[in-house]
Amino acid sequence: MRIAVPREIAPRETRVALVPETVARLVKAGLEVAVEAGAGEAAGYLDESYRQAGATVVPGARDLYAQADLVLKVREPMPGEAAGAHEADLIREGATLVAFLGRDRGSDAVKRLAARRVTAFSMEMIPRTSRAQKMDALSSMASVAGYKAALWGAGSLGKFFPLMMTAAGTIAPARVFVLGAGVAGLQAIATCRRLGAVVEAFDVRPAVKEEVQSLGATFVGLELLAEDAVQAGGYAKELSEEHQQKERDLIHARLKNADIAITTAAIPGKKAPVLITGDMVKDMKPGSVIVDLAAETGGNCELTVAGQDVRRHGVLILGPVNVPATLPLHASQMYSRNVAALVQLMVKDGKLNLDFEDDIIRDSCITRAAAAAPEPAVAGKAS
Ligand code: NAI
Repeated sequence: MRIAVPREIAPRETRVALVPETVARLVKAGLEVAVEAGAGEAAGYLDESYRQAGATVVPGARDLYAQADLVLKVREPMPGEAAGAHEADLIREGATLVAFLGRDRGSDAVKRLAARRVTAFSMEMIPRTSRAQKMDALSSMASVAGYKAALWGAGSLGKFFPLMMTAAGTIAPARVFVLGAGVAGLQAIATCRRLGAVVEAFDVRPAVKEEVQSLGATFVGLELLAEDAVQAGGYAKELSEEHQQKERDLIHARLKNADIAITTAAIPGKKAPVLITGDMVKDMKPGSVIVDLAAETGGNCELTVAGQDVRRHGVLILGPVNVPATLPLHASQMYSRNVAALVQLMVKDGKLNLDFEDDIIRDSCITRAAAAAPEPAVAGKAS
């Protein structure tokens, strides 16, 4: 069975689906791996290191795709100028694809894949269960994003993060307020704590309180009952109007004291909840910073502009998109391990053997050759 790893062609995408370390493991397991020339270069992995790991390096995308049984990508297939075709049309009919394909079965990329009878698996649809943890690429990428959000916050603030005792006197530590203590939020808290800031964090799920405290931050929360805030699977659900108002009051009060707000609140499959209004921004200290990690899904702050840094009422609001691509070496390494774990589940005795009785295979399949899609469509995309 031949695995192909193309060079990503999305603008500013620097990640690669497999890194040499993982290639070596797959080759050892009896699989053939081909990598497009230059595929790992932007992430710091040169062609030679892929060769040493046992991969074949193929000069052009067309040849690479033509020979592949299983294509491993980071981003969804898109039109490519170099190969003169849409990537979905380069994949062999009946082949298999793994990538971040979103959750929307009606997207252009998924429709094209279905038309070509490609069986495709979306990394966004890997269930968040303990068995699937090592394949959970969304969590890997959220960790990268949380870490980077903390660094951007620190780098954009005109203040020190830690307490400083200097000859010029004592300087108080920066105060960070993290909204949403899921994977990205917890990593942002940990990173801000390492840099010496005083951190407060807020989440609607009461269960995260202990995790927040174990990182040395203070949990500020409404006294919500779990049934008001949590849906099946442990994810947050939308709050009632009454609870939303209480939440806004709490956030408003905390923001007045914060130097940095890092927002990561998300509800799966839904637009990001707006937690910071324009009026709240007006009441923040001049020179403070908001890093809105939910920018791509609408933003947790009303004034966020996705992909831009804007200054409103003296507050700098960062709306970064595709944050993991700014840390490509480790983001690729983590993604590569997640994808390889999924590949191991898909392969038996060196051959592709897709078991749709397995919940991970079934739930993450977004389009299936010669069969109806296994689950109804869920709109929305979050990577
Ligand atoms: P997650 O699902 O692990 O965490 C989200 C947290 O938000 C949960 O703890 C949830 O309880 C909380 N939440 C939901 N509604 C809330 C509310 N009204 N108030 C307070 N907390 C609330 O999600 P994860 O993986 O940590 O991702 C967080 C965000 O970061 C998402 O918007 C995701 O799309 C984004 N992200 C952005 C990236 C980028 O490149 N811009 C990369 C990775 C993640």
